[in-house]
Amino acid sequence: MSKIFATTSGKGGVGKSSVATGLGLAFASLGNQVLLVDMDEGLRCLDLLLGVDGEVVLDLSDALGTPNVSDIAYPCKTEGLYLLPSPSKYGLVTKEALEEFCNKAKKIYDIIIFDFPAGIDFTLYEALPKETVFLCVATPDPVSVRDASFVGAKLFELGLTARLIINRFNIKTHFKRKQKNIDGIIDASSIRLLGIVPESDEINLLSLRHRLKKNKKPFKAFVRIANRLLDKNIPLQKLKKI
Ligand SMILES: Nc1ncnc2c1ncn2[C@@H]1O[C@H](COP(=O)(O)OP(=O)(O)OP(=O)(O)O)[C@@H](O)[C@H]1O
Ligand SMILES: [Mg+2]
Repeated sequence: MSKIFATTSGKGGVGKSSVATGLGLAFASLGNQVLLVDMDEGLRCLDLLLGVDGEVVLDLSDALGTPNVSDIAYPCKTEGLYLLPSPSKYGLVTKEALEEFCNKAKKIYDIIIFDFPAGIDFTLYEALPKETVFLCVATPDPVSVRDASFVGAKLFELGLTARLIINRFNIKTHFKRKQKNIDGIIDASSIRLLGIVPESDEINLLSLRHRLKKNKKPFKAFVRIANRLLDKNIPLQKLKKI
């Protein structure tokens, strides 16, 4: 049975698209057929991160109306990873069409990751299958953590499942903030922690390289998170090792 994930955050620029891409690369490296769906209507970006921007003619709005989703999805440079770019215009994705799309895509892909824009418009979240796990991305910054707590509470109210991913973790800043451990962040956000992604140029350079080096910390962090999402028991690392 396929697994469905969706990135979310109230505050913009916290790394949702980078996390969606990193997880897509990680799941594909574990041998899965992965579909990444860019939900940022009018402001697409995953095509740039994955290096298929020059090829994009069709997008999610075309896939909504077709019986075979895989005819529209673009194969990325990593085997097993496919992308549906977001429509270049806003407002083309309806709840009903998205629901139908999910039913079709679930028959083809092992993993589907929806990368949503920032904000608190959750209208389309309810169109996703009930088993969808919402990946609340936050940076360790207190503003972002408070924001994640708000999003988590809202998802809970809607009966949706949320997990926290802390992105841009930097051990030096962490100790400067006098947060001796990560518990403070988890408590403040009230969402179960799934994993921590380091601050790294590797991630910043995704739009240039379209991949992550397998022996570096960011890729390893994404593989650990992917395995946890596949229900494997992977303990959290010591902060110094992240
Ligand atoms: N762990 C990281 N280390 C270094 N840079 C990062 C990291 N995560 C994200 N960035 C950088 O932060 C910027 C914003 O990232 P990204 O576009 O993934 O955020 P977003 O939450 O998807 O933004 P939006 O809300 O606009 O959709 C990008 O320049 C990206 O390269
Ligand atoms: Mg984004």
